[in-house]
Amino acid sequence: MSDFLSLPQQAHKLLSPLIYNGDCVIDATCGNGYDCLFLARQVAPLGWVYGFDIQESAIIATQQRIEQAGLGANTQLIHAGHQFMRDHIATKNKGHIKAIMFNLGYLPGSDKKIITRSDTTLVALNSAVSLLAPSGIITILAYPGHEGGEQETIRIKNWCQQVDSTLDVKIIDSPQPKSTAPLLFVLQKN
Ligand SMILES: C[S@@+](CC[C@H](N)C(=O)[O-])C[C@H]1O[C@@H](n2cnc3c(N)ncnc32)[C@H](O)[C@@H]1O
Repeated sequence: MSDFLSLPQQAHKLLSPLIYNGDCVIDATCGNGYDCLFLARQVAPLGWVYGFDIQESAIIATQQRIEQAGLGANTQLIHAGHQFMRDHIATKNKGHIKAIMFNLGYLPGSDKKIITRSDTTLVALNSAVSLLAPSGIITILAYPGHEGGEQETIRIKNWCQQVDSTLDVKIIDSPQPKSTAPLLFVLQKN
């Protein structure tokens, strides 16, 4: 078995010890539902996952995955852009979100032209910061290798440089370093 963990696996490994039963978390890009399932398992049975995606097919795929795992009662899937996330989070949960995952780019196996866009991603990231609990964490998996992805990755790097100083920022490189390889940004509120 390979010793390398992919960046999606590293994001899960990093979050595992930090989120527990009862926590409230957000999957900002549901896609095929792998991250959402990971989050739902971590916070069940008492926690809550909000999941967002602009594609109905992603919401359906995620819903099926979550329901097959018997975790539907703890998950609220929202067919809307993550730039509107603040509008969908219950007031009592604002400022209490323990983790927010962004896995950017396009939905694997689907239309590669439907991608996250840097303008809306940055709006969503600012909302995410405003929703975080003390010691809450944001992970952002960015893919510079596809059209539009490089610009989005650069804008996220720049955003990280001027983000609220209450956040510690780390950037984790892909196990296979190439200029087009994904990057994992990790921001934790101190
Ligand atoms: C790489 S996939 C996510 C993978 C997913 N987290 C998983 O575990 O399978 C990126 C997703 O972002 C979605 N997306 C694009 N723009 C979005 C936006 N503004 N708000 C929410 N989701 C968006 C796409 O539809 C796509 O499903």
